[in-house]
Amino acid sequence: MSAPAHPDSTDLDRLHSAVKREKADLPPESQPAPLWAVFLLMLVAIIAGGQLGPMAGGWSFDVSNPFSVVSSGGGDPRPGAGDAGAALDPFALAMKKGASGYAVCGGCHQGNGGGIPGQFPPLAGSEWVNGGTERLVRVVQHGLVGAITVKGQGYNTPGGMQAFGAAMSSQDLANVLTYIRNNWGNEGTMVTKEMVQKIRDEEKRATQWTEAELKPFADKNVPGEITAGPGATAAAAPAK
Ligand code: HEC
Repeated sequence: MSAPAHPDSTDLDRLHSAVKREKADLPPESQPAPLWAVFLLMLVAIIAGGQLGPMAGGWSFDVSNPFSVVSSGGGDPRPGAGDAGAALDPFALAMKKGASGYAVCGGCHQGNGGGIPGQFPPLAGSEWVNGGTERLVRVVQHGLVGAITVKGQGYNTPGGMQAFGAAMSSQDLANVLTYIRNNWGNEGTMVTKEMVQKIRDEEKRATQWTEAELKPFADKNVPGEITAGPGATAAAAPAK
């Protein structure tokens, strides 16, 4: 396999150009950086990031608490910039989460809370929703069956309404109840997860309620309710 000699093949510069391009070989005693050093640097970067994040960027490791995010000062100064969730007060947050939780109710009671005449009673303007939270929590926790009257209209849908207590957490249920009590013209207090939990703890019941059974609770409120509205906090709860 002897190719014809290229006219330039004797040119020393051309012959060695590839060799000259390469870096010099490492001295034989040098070693690649040990793996532990690489991991140590990664660890330092993670810890440093965790320290710097909350200081400079409003970022936090703590994803469990929506209020832990550093929201004031030092953030992005543009209007509307930054983490919208961080700025939500407990009422706004409950309304937001309740709105998505309401998806399980909306199929029957409708997105506008108007229900379906003769079939599913309305939640908008309903005395069951706007009345005592002792009754409202029980209805959704354990279900409701038999003839009932809502806004002067009679309903008696076969099977009634199922219990949602097993399917929803106290917090999810509280959010949905806050949502339906403060939507479509309804104006009520907030329902907290502690309130729902209280009914859960004291009312172990496997069957749906009837209207007559719930009569005593119609105007009673679970203690611990919070006035709804922007800036609502646990501290602002009426002491009663
Ligand atoms: C499968 C249909 C269905 C779903 C889903 C449903 N409901 Fe009901 N709901 C009913 C029916 C039917 C009644 C009336 C029961 C009766 O006649 O005894 C009722 C009654 C009520 C009442 C009392 C009457 C009124 O209109 O105020 C409330 C409050 C209520 N539901 C809230 C909810 C909430 C909150 C959810 C979601 C967590 C929900 N419902 C999901 C069918 C449903």
